[in-house]
Amino acid sequence: MKFDVVTVFPELVEQVTSVGVVGRAREAGLLDVAVHDLRDFTTDRHRTVDDAPYGGGPGMVLKVEPFLRAVEHVRDRRGEPAAVILMSPQGETFTHEAAVRLTGLGHVVLLCGRYQGVDERVRGQVATEEISIGDYVLSGGELAAAVVIDAVSRQVPGVVGNSESVATDSFVRRMLDGPTYTRPASLNGQEVPEVLVSGDHAGIRRWRKREAVKRTLRRRPDLLRRARLDDEERECLRELETQGATRRAEP
Ligand code: ADE
Repeated sequence: MKFDVVTVFPELVEQVTSVGVVGRAREAGLLDVAVHDLRDFTTDRHRTVDDAPYGGGPGMVLKVEPFLRAVEHVRDRRGEPAAVILMSPQGETFTHEAAVRLTGLGHVVLLCGRYQGVDERVRGQVATEEISIGDYVLSGGELAAAVVIDAVSRQVPGVVGNSESVATDSFVRRMLDGPTYTRPASLNGQEVPEVLVSGDHAGIRRWRKREAVKRTLRRRPDLLRRARLDDEERECLRELETQGATRRAEP
């Protein structure tokens, strides 16, 4: 999987993609991340990347030409990318499905916006799509680009050591994870659930499924509508919904 990131803060993207799972994947050659400084694609003495907005208004707008030249440079040096994505709060919301789709593309350019925005022509002439990582405004697209790189990298075979852990990742199944515990068994009067120390493996498996369904129902009922439940989980959900309905009906 190949990423090219265009940004005014290359050191920020370089740092966050050099540690942990993503950093190791880069070292192992499973992931190729090249970070490009937008200022390297300016032509004036001051390396100007922004300008005042036409029509007035607060803040500065990132210019279109440095982005055009940066993507041209990527094409020449790194090959034709399958997508050029502008990171912006106006984009389509990033999801697990989007991460899987991008993994299939193989080579993606991520353009990081800054300041009050980017010249609209970046959308029309440079980017092929626009992605937001959520309904909030960041100071720039750099952390959003790192989020996309992290989530996509996890889908690349071999990046996550135990491949089973990706297959059972929460949003693959559209379920939240249930609770997990490690030692000590008792802390400030709170005990680890008895079943987990019982050695009853079937019981543990049932308990985990039930807790995951319970938590998803309580916190993200929207996910459950499209979740891929097995028979046991469906039965759990029916029970919990019946209990909930009964409780709500009680005076
Ligand atoms: N840049 C600023 N805010 C953003 C967001 N929520 N997602 C992606 N890029 C952004």
